[in-house]
Amino acid sequence: MTLLKVEDLKVHFPIRGGFFRTVVDHVRAVDGVSFELEEGETYGLVGESGSGKSTTGKAIVKLNKVTSGKILFEGQDIANYSSRQIKPYRRDIQMIFQDPYSSLNPKKRVLDIIAEPLRNFERHSPGEEKKIIQDYLDKVGLSPDSIYKYPHEFSGGQRQRIGIARSLTLKPKLIIADEPVSALDVSVQAQVLNFLQDLQEEFKLTYLFVGHDLGVIRHMCDRMGVMYRGRLVEEGTSKEIYNNPQHIYTKRLIAAIPDLEPSVREEKAIARQKVSEEYEQSYSKYFDEKGRAYDLKPISTTHRVALP
Ligand SMILES: Nc1ncnc2c1ncn2[C@@H]1O[C@H](COP(=O)(O)OP(=O)(O)OP(=O)(O)O)[C@@H](O)[C@H]1O
Ligand SMILES: [Mg+2]
Repeated sequence: MTLLKVEDLKVHFPIRGGFFRTVVDHVRAVDGVSFELEEGETYGLVGESGSGKSTTGKAIVKLNKVTSGKILFEGQDIANYSSRQIKPYRRDIQMIFQDPYSSLNPKKRVLDIIAEPLRNFERHSPGEEKKIIQDYLDKVGLSPDSIYKYPHEFSGGQRQRIGIARSLTLKPKLIIADEPVSALDVSVQAQVLNFLQDLQEEFKLTYLFVGHDLGVIRHMCDRMGVMYRGRLVEEGTSKEIYNNPQHIYTKRLIAAIPDLEPSVREEKAIARQKVSEEYEQSYSKYFDEKGRAYDLKPISTTHRVALP
């Protein structure tokens, strides 16, 4: 079943200028993006910095106002819901952010940090609440006495687990994870990623994974969409995107992945150079006169490419 369907989503931010601060132009952060998430799958959004990945994620959780387009969650278009209408969906769709340092209130105990969203939706006695929260702490691998501690008493990886526990108490259906491990040490990244995969099984979660680290996205995702300047340039299974990229931008993104293996480094550098030249030569084949990517066209049942 389709859980989320994003249709021709646009999020434009006004740029103000002049003495009266009038709107002089717009940043087309997201400029016509469509994709679907099946229940239980992990879908990745990749692309370089500023391509509109986070803006897309934030529009889905209503942290960004939608300029136009549809966001169908379980068939309901929530794109223009008021704050009252959106309330029940606030449980179902949760976002995990990149920075485990700034996303937790440093003045609050873990108990109150995790309980906060829950208190918006459910009434529990203090005893019950404590038990629920300790249960979730246990699920994310933190000890029960963590509830009395403050964020600074934890490591980066542990803080990210606290943030995850906080999202889970509402039993969401969809989790949007925006670079959830990029602020963590490489040594704990894999640990948190594996842990997110375990949670997916246990809670039957659907993930929208946002990031610029193709290695991470490939490891986590069944399918992915490649974003460039607010548009999707290619979509397919992780395997298709990696082994058979069709859009010149995707090719370039993949060629840019650094290789640690010394024996292939030179080979990679040559490949990178070749893609770079191909990019220059074939630019007009892949982008219109305004430099915008075309709409996605299917080239197989799972693979779509932005071509004229
Ligand atoms: N609130 C805002 N007001 C104005 N412009 C914004 C706002 N939020 C994002 N933008 C702009 O929209 C574009 C897309 O930003 P976004 O944060 O979605 O990129 P991203 O793909 O998540 O990049 P990164 O990999 O660096 O996180 C950028 O040009 C950014 O400056
Ligand atoms: Mg971002």
